[in-house]
Amino acid sequence: MENKKAYVITGPTSGIGYETALELAKHGTVILVGRSKEKLQQVEKTIQQAGQNAVSIVCDISDMTSVKHAAQKIIDLKLPLAGLLNNAGIMPQKATKSAQGWDMTFATNHLGTFALTEALAPYLSESANVVNIASAIEDPERKPAKIMGMKGGQYISAEASARGEWKKGGTKLAGIDAYATSKQCVLASTLAFSRENERLRFIAVEPGITAGTGLGAGDTPAFLRAIFGFIFRYMPPFSKYSSTPKKSAIVITKILTDTSNKTGIYFDEKGQPMRGSELAHDIKFQDRVVSETHALLAKYKIKLVAANER
Ligand SMILES: NC(=O)c1ccc[n+]([C@@H]2O[C@H](COP(=O)([O-])OP(=O)(O)OC[C@H]3O[C@@H](n4cnc5c(N)ncnc54)[C@H](OP(=O)(O)O)[C@@H]3O)[C@@H](O)[C@H]2O)c1
Repeated sequence: MENKKAYVITGPTSGIGYETALELAKHGTVILVGRSKEKLQQVEKTIQQAGQNAVSIVCDISDMTSVKHAAQKIIDLKLPLAGLLNNAGIMPQKATKSAQGWDMTFATNHLGTFALTEALAPYLSESANVVNIASAIEDPERKPAKIMGMKGGQYISAEASARGEWKKGGTKLAGIDAYATSKQCVLASTLAFSRENERLRFIAVEPGITAGTGLGAGDTPAFLRAIFGFIFRYMPPFSKYSSTPKKSAIVITKILTDTSNKTGIYFDEKGQPMRGSELAHDIKFQDRVVSETHALLAKYKIKLVAANER
């Protein structure tokens, strides 16, 4: 494949990730990482029909063994990896377990993102951007979240999160504590990595309240989604924070392909720097999330050997 640059994107088969994959294809080869082979092939075909390059890697990001194999396959492609976009995410109402027996939301949103990043980091090009899709829902003080009765991340420890346990005093909305906590860990780890790793750039993005994606669609009644879609798009204060998959794709692609060496920044849906929760910006908390996540993942230590070293 004769493209100068390649970008890895997780969750390119729906919503924000799908639009971003199409947008990214204008900048280089897109390495599509998703759990459904059929859906990946469809996206790959769409990109190739536009005369651009894409390659698919099947991976269940909630399963650490699958992440390990996928990372190795990506490395074996030997493409110049100019960026990694950790976009795959879920927000189910019902708690289920991952392949390792961990809370599915925490495993998908935080552990999978963390494990893939660590596995690929040594193989990313110098100064490559690692962009993690966070969510403003992690911040208990964020206006739209507050109005909806959300209470932000409810972190006890990485082990407790993996067991699906959240601090008392969380929200009454099903699935939201798991989602907000996982995204708080995504943001905290992004900021910690940006301090620790001088070779790469680490950025978090809040894509905005984006109706019409698959997020929460699985077990949320269609009429409720339609009502919320309308409210989010047109009613203040929600409308101020709302976006569409296409708009988000443009903002995210600009950030992922940026070469100005920005690191440790959290961008909002308009591509402007924003603040997350006080806790996510607390260095002690960031370091605790990283060390506890390492300890949890230690069992699945992703030991990769470059193809040319085997
Ligand atoms: N929509 C919003 O309002 C909003 C707001 C803030 C943050 N976000 C974040 O934005 C990101 C994209 O969400 P979206 O709204 O575009 O939702 P979406 O349409 O449901 O897209 C989620 C993507 O993640 C993939 N995915 C889910 N579980 C996976 C797994 N175990 N392994 C591999 N891939 C998996 C999905 O694959 P399948 O196609 O196979 O399901 C899909 O491609 C998420 O991280 C989300 O948390 C969204």
